[in-house]
Amino acid sequence: MSPTTKPKFKNPRAKYNFQGRTCSIAGVGSYVPHKILTNADLEKMVNTSDEWITTRTGIKERHIAAKDEFTSDLGAKAALRAMQTAGITADEIDLIIVATITPDMPFPSTAALVQRKLGAHRAAAFDLEAACSGFIYALEVAQQFIMSRTYDTVLVIGAEKLSSIVDWQDRNTCVLFGDGAGAAILRNRPNAHGLLTAVMGADGRKANLLFMAGGGSRCPASAQSVDARMHYLRMEGKETFKSAVQAMQTAATEALRRCEIDISRIKLIVPHQANLRIIEAVGKRLGAQPEQLFVNLHKYGNTSAASVAIALDEAVRSGRVQSGDLLLLVVFGAGLTWGAAVIEW
Ligand code: ACO
Repeated sequence: MSPTTKPKFKNPRAKYNFQGRTCSIAGVGSYVPHKILTNADLEKMVNTSDEWITTRTGIKERHIAAKDEFTSDLGAKAALRAMQTAGITADEIDLIIVATITPDMPFPSTAALVQRKLGAHRAAAFDLEAACSGFIYALEVAQQFIMSRTYDTVLVIGAEKLSSIVDWQDRNTCVLFGDGAGAAILRNRPNAHGLLTAVMGADGRKANLLFMAGGGSRCPASAQSVDARMHYLRMEGKETFKSAVQAMQTAATEALRRCEIDISRIKLIVPHQANLRIIEAVGKRLGAQPEQLFVNLHKYGNTSAASVAIALDEAVRSGRVQSGDLLLLVVFGAGLTWGAAVIEW
């Protein structure tokens, strides 16, 4: 199929059983650091309140990594749990993709550092940057490698230490984010359940809504960039909110259309966990029932690329997902970027 051809599936399984190959999710896992920062803790740090944070976002607490705990550590721990669930060893992994906006360092990739920690020496490794949409972007990339017969087993990780780029003096942003990681093992398993479709999108014209200006080639680190607090993320909250609702609705609708699946057939919608009001607005626009929405942001805040991966792992472990259930993952992030995926579990 040419890349411009729009796929059309009478049978939603048509794509993932393409030529006898299936991109199935063999195991998921997640990890969050031990330290918890509550809204009450934040009240002592900036001019905010538990009441404001809870009513505007739904967030009650978030996990914060230790000084000597990095994105690759969180990612490797989540990966080990996913490998355990999938029942595979490190030497079976062909490729590692780490979705992150908080790599351990600009290079080498965090994926290479995870590869070393896991001892997955056969695996190719690279990072993927699509902000909060990174996990779904990475699922789609992994699926392409599997369906094209390049690789059989891909480890996809969403991992973030956002506490390292949050400005703890900026109440507009510091209450929103947390650290953590989630992972999935994707494998070719003929005629199994799996990833039906993944949709990705971006609009660089809105890059100014959410960004970190310092540390790249445009503004390398300097005494001035540090003084100007350019190594922290900045966000236009209201505009980001509006774009998030619109983009998530568009992505989810397109993913469902491609699979010819009605929203009523989706057992669980696992959305990016940024703001409860965003999740509820998207659910309403999609015509979903409240019980179809998976929410865990009250415990973790927004963990960017890790968010939907942690949520998926929790949904599975808590028994909300059974074999054969249809899931809709939907995300939104800086870039702007967005994405959605439909999975038959
Ligand atoms: N505590 C108390 N007051 C606050 C706080 C705080 N933590 N933060 C902001 N305020 C104040 C502001 O100063 C402002 O006051 P003013 O009106 O006197 O100027 C007021 O609250 C802002 O109110 P609103 O703009 O109406 O707040 P809103 O309802 O839009 O909520 C929020 C703000 C939570 C940031 C919301 O806009 C939002 O969630 N936006 C989307 C964020 C998001 O999803 N980001 C992630 C993208 S994914 C990625 O790639 C990382």
